[in-house]
Amino acid sequence: MTAPPTEPEILQIHALRKSFNGHEVLAGVDFSLRACETASVLGGSGSGKTTLLRLIAGLVKPDGGRIVLFGQDSVALSERELLPFRRRMGVVFQGAALFDSLTVFENVAFPLELHTKAGAGEIRERVAQVLDEVGLPGLEEQYPAQLSGGMRKRIGIARALVLQPDLLLFDEPTAGLDPTNTRMICELIAGLRGRFCGTSVVVTHDLHCAFMMSSQITFLHHGKIVEVAAPEDFRNSAKPEVRKFLEGALDSTDVARKSS
Ligand SMILES: Nc1ncnc2c1ncn2[C@@H]1O[C@H](COP(=O)(O)OP(=O)(O)OP(=O)(O)O)[C@@H](O)[C@H]1O
Ligand SMILES: [Mg+2]
Repeated sequence: MTAPPTEPEILQIHALRKSFNGHEVLAGVDFSLRACETASVLGGSGSGKTTLLRLIAGLVKPDGGRIVLFGQDSVALSERELLPFRRRMGVVFQGAALFDSLTVFENVAFPLELHTKAGAGEIRERVAQVLDEVGLPGLEEQYPAQLSGGMRKRIGIARALVLQPDLLLFDEPTAGLDPTNTRMICELIAGLRGRFCGTSVVVTHDLHCAFMMSSQITFLHHGKIVEVAAPEDFRNSAKPEVRKFLEGALDSTDVARKSS
C-alpha cells in the first residue's frame, strides 16, 4: 500500500544524470519517496541501480540533476556538509561489508561511536536492541568469520539500523543467500516498514521479495525509469521492458548492450 500523501517526502530526485567514461549510466532519472514507504528498484545488470544508490548516499556526484534529501538539496554539499545527512541514512551495500577484525559488537557500535556521544552503557543497550531486532540476540562477542552469510547480512542490517536512520538504502540484500535466509531478510525489511514506519530504497533482483516488501516498484532500463507502480500494478505492467524482465529475458539484453 502506498503511504498517504500526508507523509513528508524523504527523497526527491529530478533529471539525475551520471556517466562513466563517456557511457551514460543514468540518463535523466526522476524518483520520489515519502516517509514509511519501501521502494524496490529493479532492472537488468548494469542498468545503474547501484549507481543510483551511491548517488543518493552522496558517495558519488551526479553530472546533472537534483537530489533533495530530507527537504534539502544534497548535490552541492561538501563531504563535511554531508555528514548530518549520512547520519540520517543507513546503508547496506552488497556483501555485508563488515570489519573482519572487529567483533559483532564493535561492528554494530561503529556508527554510534562515529556519530554520537553515547556512553558505553547506552551503546551496549542499543547494540543489544538492534541485534534483537534482526533476530540475532547475544552475538556481540562473535567475529564475522564465525557467522554464516545470512547472519553476516543481518549484522550488516543491524549496523545500518543502529542510528535509527530516517532512510535505509539496501543493495541486493539477498544476493547469494539460500531461500530460507532470503525470506528472513525480506521479512525483516518488510517488518521495518510495518513496525517502525521505516523508509527504504531496496535494489534487488528478487521479484518475490520486491512484491512482498515494497509499497512501490521502480524499474530502471537503459538509464531511465520506465515504470513506477504499486506491486500489484507492476505485475500487470504493459511496458514491454517490464514484461521482458518479468519473463526473465532482460539480463542478457543488458549484458549484450554493455559489451557492444
Ligand atoms: N565507478 C565506476 N567507474 C566506471 N564505471 C562504472 C562505475 N560505477 C559503475 N560503472 C558502470 O556503470 C554501469 C552501471 O553500473 P551499476 O553498478 O550501477 O549497475 P547495476 O544495475 O547495479 O548492475 P548489477 O545488477 O550487475 O549490480 C556499468 O556499466 C558499470 O560498469
Ligand atoms: Mg549493482
